[in-house]
Amino acid sequence: MAGDNSQFSKGVSAAREYLLREFDMGAEFLPQSPPRQAEAASDVMARPVVAEFPDLLVEPDLKAADTLDAVRDVLGDCDRCKLCKGRINIVFGVGNPEAEVMFVGEGPGADEDAQGIPFVGRAGKLLTDIIEKGMRLRRDDVYIANIVKCRPPDNRNPEPDEIVACEPFLAKQIAVIRPRVIVALGKVPTQSLLQNRTPISKQRGQWHDYRGVPVMPTFHPAYLLRSPGEKRVVWDDIKQVMKKVGLPIE
Ligand code: URA
Repeated sequence: MAGDNSQFSKGVSAAREYLLREFDMGAEFLPQSPPRQAEAASDVMARPVVAEFPDLLVEPDLKAADTLDAVRDVLGDCDRCKLCKGRINIVFGVGNPEAEVMFVGEGPGADEDAQGIPFVGRAGKLLTDIIEKGMRLRRDDVYIANIVKCRPPDNRNPEPDEIVACEPFLAKQIAVIRPRVIVALGKVPTQSLLQNRTPISKQRGQWHDYRGVPVMPTFHPAYLLRSPGEKRVVWDDIKQVMKKVGLPIE
């Protein structure tokens, strides 16, 4: 009987893998059994030690902040850049303060601005599917933040001065969480974190480094809504992330 069960699970795994690979042909991330906690991955790789960044910590309170709540307190009702003028809410970030996987997007859109939570609109639904149906985690298991915490007008890209103003807070969030892996979603987060101008298509799918934390760039979910054929490569990138943190890939 045990043999039969194992044959059956192998068949199910193979079917799931096949269907996930086919999801660029119209299928979405597959419905799964209920999301579950990330498995302990302590023997997979140690938590990175995030390299110091004294150049960004010119605000003494931010330098001293050693929890996400403390970082949020220092951010306050931020007016450090012009994006404060048009925002409804600051979108600080959500998720597990001890997340192993951290996703970094570009900036809030209208839905995120209205709710104060990152990735809750259409692109957010797809990111949630990637996390829950693809990785079989819960959104609460990971941490999700953006390069800028206030909505750029008309959803334009954040400008360099806005990215620079927000950078100390994102850097501090990363330093407090110490994720094993950062997934950079699209061009803006990838080029901002990695401090380069290389196209996302040339950087995705390969490991990079942000102050000692491994970074996997992949395409932004909003791009996947326009180009569903690219979901296949995003799944390949996500599988590298899962491997790195010790999540089972069935
Ligand atoms: N796109 C992003 O980059 N971030 C969000 O929070 C929502 C959409």
